[in-house]
Amino acid sequence: MEHQKPWDSDQITRDYLDALLVEMRHVDAVMPSTRLELYGETFDTPIMMAALSHLHNVRDNGMVEMAMGARAANAVNWAGMGDEAELEAITATGARTIKIIKPYADNDYILGRIAHAERCGALAVGMDIDHAFGGNGQYDVVLGQEMRPKSLSELKEFIQATRLPFVIKGVLSEQDAYKALEAGAKGIVISHHHGIMNYAVPPLYLLPKIAKVVNGQIPIFVDCGIVSGMDAFKALALGADAVCVGRAIMEPLRKNGWEGVREKIQKMTEELAGAMARTCSRDLKSIDPTVIHQRKGW
Ligand SMILES: Cc1cc2nc3c(=O)[nH]c(=O)nc-3n(C[C@H](O)[C@H](O)[C@H](O)COP(=O)(O)O)c2cc1C
Repeated sequence: MEHQKPWDSDQITRDYLDALLVEMRHVDAVMPSTRLELYGETFDTPIMMAALSHLHNVRDNGMVEMAMGARAANAVNWAGMGDEAELEAITATGARTIKIIKPYADNDYILGRIAHAERCGALAVGMDIDHAFGGNGQYDVVLGQEMRPKSLSELKEFIQATRLPFVIKGVLSEQDAYKALEAGAKGIVISHHHGIMNYAVPPLYLLPKIAKVVNGQIPIFVDCGIVSGMDAFKALALGADAVCVGRAIMEPLRKNGWEGVREKIQKMTEELAGAMARTCSRDLKSIDPTVIHQRKGW
């Protein structure tokens, strides 16, 4: 496929999503349910917020408004980098929140943040393991804080330190999926962190292979470029349990605050339900991967 920035992972991911086509199955179809069961709780939709951060300049406090929108839609909320006071304000909205902690160099600090997320009543915690290095091969430094890649044994230590489900975000290979399972993770996010590396494989391209590795043992989440219910449907059909939506939520958040977020989630959920209805998919677990076809050239 030709475009102006052939290295751009976001563009490659968009092209791949658009290369996936969906057949229809009408006989025996029923009204579908988009209900998501996750970590012992029930949500109305598998459309979740992405682990965003640094939205304090978006309206009064964008992270809190996003949480309010997720709660209003009975959707799972996620939170990325941010201080303890911010997480307290987010969880005080009542939104069921998965807190993603950066791979800080200081493991004691990480353990402290995990314990704090527990005290806040988070739904789960996790780490974006793809944020250890900058593009120059040096350790990344985010807002003055040094990052480090984490070993399997360090991941095990974090996972064993908490009673919360631990999610590893930034899995983009079968190898890391195996390691996440071995570490005891209770979920993975297949993601390239909105193009943290050029020429990154689109998450949905790897999803069927990773789903085979995971084999239903833990939930699989997907993000990067999911902007519509049809995008979500394709991810769910290929083996995801739920999807995260980041940048596509930011515009409605800016314009209409928490109500814009709620509306966007609900609109995407309706579109997902429409695709489920027309593919004879009664619930999220029964979307048949063979409804997906790939355009030639991919
Ligand atoms: C403003 C912004 C802040 C983000 N902050 C974090 C973060 O702190 N931690 C994290 O794991 N991911 C972070 N992300 C990445 C998102 O969670 C997500 O992986 C990425 O944006 C791809 O999803 P999207 O294409 O739907 O935006 C951030 C993304 C954006 C746009």
